[in-house]
Amino acid sequence: MLVTGKEILDHAHKNGYAVGAFNVVNMEMLQAVVAAAEEEKAPVFVQTTEGALSYAGVEYLSVMVKKAAESVSVPVAFHLDHGGSFDTVMKCLRNGWSSVMIDGSHFALDENIALTAKVVEAAHACGVSVEAELGRLGGVEDNISVDEKDAMYTDPEEAKRFVAESGVDYLAIAIGTAHGKYKGIPKLDFDRLDTIKKDLNMPIVLHGASGVDAESIKKAISLGINKINIDTELRCAYTDKVREILSADPDVFDLRKIIGPARENVKAKVIEKIRLFGANGKA
Ligand code: G3H
Ligand code: 13P
Ligand code: ZN
Repeated sequence: MLVTGKEILDHAHKNGYAVGAFNVVNMEMLQAVVAAAEEEKAPVFVQTTEGALSYAGVEYLSVMVKKAAESVSVPVAFHLDHGGSFDTVMKCLRNGWSSVMIDGSHFALDENIALTAKVVEAAHACGVSVEAELGRLGGVEDNISVDEKDAMYTDPEEAKRFVAESGVDYLAIAIGTAHGKYKGIPKLDFDRLDTIKKDLNMPIVLHGASGVDAESIKKAISLGINKINIDTELRCAYTDKVREILSADPDVFDLRKIIGPARENVKAKVIEKIRLFGANGKA
């Protein structure tokens, strides 16, 4: 069932769990995510980046994801991940996305607020909810200095102003995670998360969660993270299985025997994450 992101995240915020937000770029990834959510009776976000829009096409994605969402009983939010411009957001609003992220995190605070407020006005007029980001991801070195942290990580005072002036529905914050594969062990700034959650009392989003250990994820959820983005670990689940099959049998050429098992491997990974996040049985 297709619902807005806000509907899903308000429930997670009130009940203290996190919803998995999984990036998809093709039919097999989408089927894996939706089948896992249905089996686990979990609400879920299916999300697409601008890269996914140009790879698969806005209309193809729109038709596929809406069909997939309608074919299951659990709530599914169809989300734009890291939307880079007002134009991209408008394309998604016209094509049935039920949640959009506008990522103005690389802009100065005032510019980020202005862009986000403009997106909020347009999206809310269409009944679609909005995520924005404050602070910058990356910088996962163990020895990051306090000054560097303060420059990159989300500032709690700025977060209060950002939410009040932009009207955003859920906020992505920077507390030490990074996109992609980690070189070292990510260490999250839990005190910062605790302060921000208490100040804002709204759904909070964690990006770059692939490769973060289970204990840190559980602690982040206990302190108020409600949406957790996973992309890299799903890409690896898919491509590891493809590599395994091709190297075990160099003569295989029936696509279904290659990407069918890859789809199963992604589904297993999504189930593992849904359980870790405590979203199973919440739909
Ligand atoms: O943050 C999102 C992704 O992990 C990067 O995805 O390569 O589709 O832009 P992309
Ligand atoms: P990972 O690729 O590190 O899982 O990050 C996903 C993400 O934040 C998508 O927005
Ligand atoms: Zn992200």
